Amino acid sequence: MSGLLSPKPVSYLQQPTPSYNPYVRGLGPYSETPPLSNAPLAHPVPHQPVGQQFMNNNIRADAVREDGKIYSLVIELLDPAMREGALLELSKKREQYDDLALVLWHSFGIMPALLQEIVSVYPLLSPPNLTAHVSNRVCNALALLQCVASHSETRQLFLNGMSLDNIIIAFVIDIFSAHIPLFLYPFLNTTSKTRPFEYLRLTSLGVIGALVKQNDNNTVIHFLLSTEIIPLCLRIMETGSELSKTVAIFIVQKILLDETGLTYICHTYERFYAVGTVLSNMVNQLVETQAVRLLKHVVRCYLRLSDNLRAREALRACLPEPLRDQTFSQLLKGDMVTKRCLTTLLNNLNEQ
Ligand code: TRP
Repeated sequence: MSGLLSPKPVSYLQQPTPSYNPYVRGLGPYSETPPLSNAPLAHPVPHQPVGQQFMNNNIRADAVREDGKIYSLVIELLDPAMREGALLELSKKREQYDDLALVLWHSFGIMPALLQEIVSVYPLLSPPNLTAHVSNRVCNALALLQCVASHSETRQLFLNGMSLDNIIIAFVIDIFSAHIPLFLYPFLNTTSKTRPFEYLRLTSLGVIGALVKQNDNNTVIHFLLSTEIIPLCLRIMETGSELSKTVAIFIVQKILLDETGLTYICHTYERFYAVGTVLSNMVNQLVETQAVRLLKHVVRCYLRLSDNLRAREALRACLPEPLRDQTFSQLLKGDMVTKRCLTTLLNNLNEQ
């Protein structure tokens, strides 16, 4: 992973004065171009039933013991003295137990306990005062939230907030009817470059990333658009570690691929310009860092922006030069898909 880059964050509210601004001209109709086929997604590994005939008693007994262990760890989350250890153990085991999300969501008091972990860290954000120890602990809580955000049966519940039962005990931390992802925004909003903060931002982005990864419904995108996730992602794309940048641009790409998301981002010149500026700064950094994974996302984002006719016109003037010439041809050698995206993008811009 590359070191932390620290360019000055751009102010997205700055009023740009571009020489050429198709947005101030007649409002053309929005592009009706269908969304790109989505990049291959790593879907959660489906539950693999073990054939009964092969499941001997030993294995079954082990499975029962494992389940029992999971349940007792979940119960330990309710005990402040045991919570830290239980968070660690459960976050380690979360991949092995497919229905952990359901257990976490439906067990009384668990979601409030996880949210309480999160909220308890807020006072350490500003001024920045997060130790590695505290960061690890809250990141383990975030890993469990990610598990809930990823599971098809709990994802929507996660977006909507908590059940009445849970809300009743959540009064302590004043989270009535909250949309759970919003709890992560204060973490995404931090700017300290120290490792504990970087780790916290990356893990929080991971939860949002897990939400947008499932592309079976667009309620996630619509929810995120009603929040300020885009400026948060843009800032991380400017200033984060390479890994954070990758997750942040993945989220923005997912938003762009959604029809409403594209329309939203291209709706005003300021929004388009904010996204375009960050992408173009990334391109210029990529000439140095040669981070190919980021480059793929950047190309995909530009290509998708070019589906919108006004954005397409603006891109004719502001697509960064390294994407037009052969700067990245060596880096993209062998990556047919991205090369094809880049060619399509350039063709789109050349079309009248
Ligand atoms: N509230 C801001 C807006 O609606 C959010 C925002 C800032 C934004 N920068 C953006 C949205 C870039 C989309 C793209 O403009």
